[in-house]
Amino acid sequence: MMASYPAKGRFMNILVLGSGGREHALVVSLAASERSETIFVAPGNGGSAPGAQNVNVDMLDPAAVIRFAREQEVGLVVIGPEAPLVAGIADAVREAQIPCFGPGASGARMEGSKRFSKEFMQRHNIPTATFASFERIPDALAYLSGLQAPVVIKADGLAAGKGVVVAQTLDEAHAAILDCFSGRFGAAGATVVIEECMTGPECSLLVFTDGERVLPMAPAQDHKRAGEGDLGPNTGGMGVYSPVPIITAAEYQQMLRYMELTVAGLLSEGIDYRGVLYGGFMLTSEGPKVLEFNARFGDPETQVILPRLKTDLLEVMLATDRGGLGALELEWEERWALSVVLASGGYPGAYEKGRPIKGLAAAEALEDVLVYHAGTRRTADGLLVTAGGRVLNVTALGATFEQARDRAYEAVELIDFEGAFYRRDIGARALLGRGAWA
Ligand code: AMP
Ligand code: GLY
Repeated sequence: MMASYPAKGRFMNILVLGSGGREHALVVSLAASERSETIFVAPGNGGSAPGAQNVNVDMLDPAAVIRFAREQEVGLVVIGPEAPLVAGIADAVREAQIPCFGPGASGARMEGSKRFSKEFMQRHNIPTATFASFERIPDALAYLSGLQAPVVIKADGLAAGKGVVVAQTLDEAHAAILDCFSGRFGAAGATVVIEECMTGPECSLLVFTDGERVLPMAPAQDHKRAGEGDLGPNTGGMGVYSPVPIITAAEYQQMLRYMELTVAGLLSEGIDYRGVLYGGFMLTSEGPKVLEFNARFGDPETQVILPRLKTDLLEVMLATDRGGLGALELEWEERWALSVVLASGGYPGAYEKGRPIKGLAAAEALEDVLVYHAGTRRTADGLLVTAGGRVLNVTALGATFEQARDRAYEAVELIDFEGAFYRRDIGARALLGRGAWA
């Protein structure tokens, strides 16, 4: 039986699963929809939006999600992070005839298993780094001994962004392989993928899909490293901007083609994929190649993509589930968006929590500035405190790249909490052009 949709024009309650900056951005955009009523966020964070409220529902428990959605007459469940997607929450929600945004477990394998997605790309001729995967240490080490550094070692499964090592020496690669098989990532490390190391600028192309049609979002570029000059450890992302001026028109067409081929490949393999497909690309000298797929919106990419999306997000999400995405067109702001992540001192390593956050109202009062909450929490007496590594995403829109950047940093400088740090060079290389990545 098909999920039942409220008639056009009727107001709808929505349940968003997740607690990061991505989810706050989703909630803010859904709150701006003409048809949204109450937006429940489970578990949410210290951020708010008109009509939004945090609720305590375990996002990994399908029965709890369905019970809550029925009780509250939720017309759409939006799944933010990868864990509930990989756990099959979307399958259960759809089986309960509740419309859902996000792929089921079989589609989420594109993110949940690097081996699966690499073999998928191989089957469908989608350019990616050459690779091999192993379940036993001796086999992995024997393969490694025939390679030259640098080489990339990846845990097959979900490892909260910590499962990838770009090893500069074979010794480092050897250690990473042992580390992966040591059980550090649990079942996610039972298979190891060894990849060729590619070079070039990275960018993200996200598309909405109803399983057949593909509607691309504006490209975005994340900054993964903790330190300025793209040095230091990998993080979930320290800043981002959209669009991405260094992508040539030809590269964009190739990336879009690979996303279309991927969706067609999923369909041909009988995998029902509805929601967002995130393509992480490297722009190599041989053309764009796929680094990875994610089965969800990017974080922090969403925090610059959604403020630029003029089309009603709720209508697009419903169309991904119901089909008929082809009847829609996405309209984009011509302005640029740039977002700076304010993080807790020590991130991505150990950091303190519970630091009071000051200056938010002044930052939000600036023109064309949106502050999305990530690791924040409201205490019982209403005080906003830090509660995670990435604390706030300060996004600004501007008529030019420089204007968006300067506004974002102006806002960042008004905000303070003990130990706060951020990168001062978000977007710096974009202005220098392609040569800056050589
Ligand atoms: P992934 O989670 O697979 O995107 O990997 C995280 C990060 O590791 C990417 O954003 C790249 O910066 C880097 N990376 C992953 N795979 C490769 C590769 N084959 N060559 C070079 N860098 C890579
Ligand atoms: N920004 C990288 C990711 O969402 O995976």
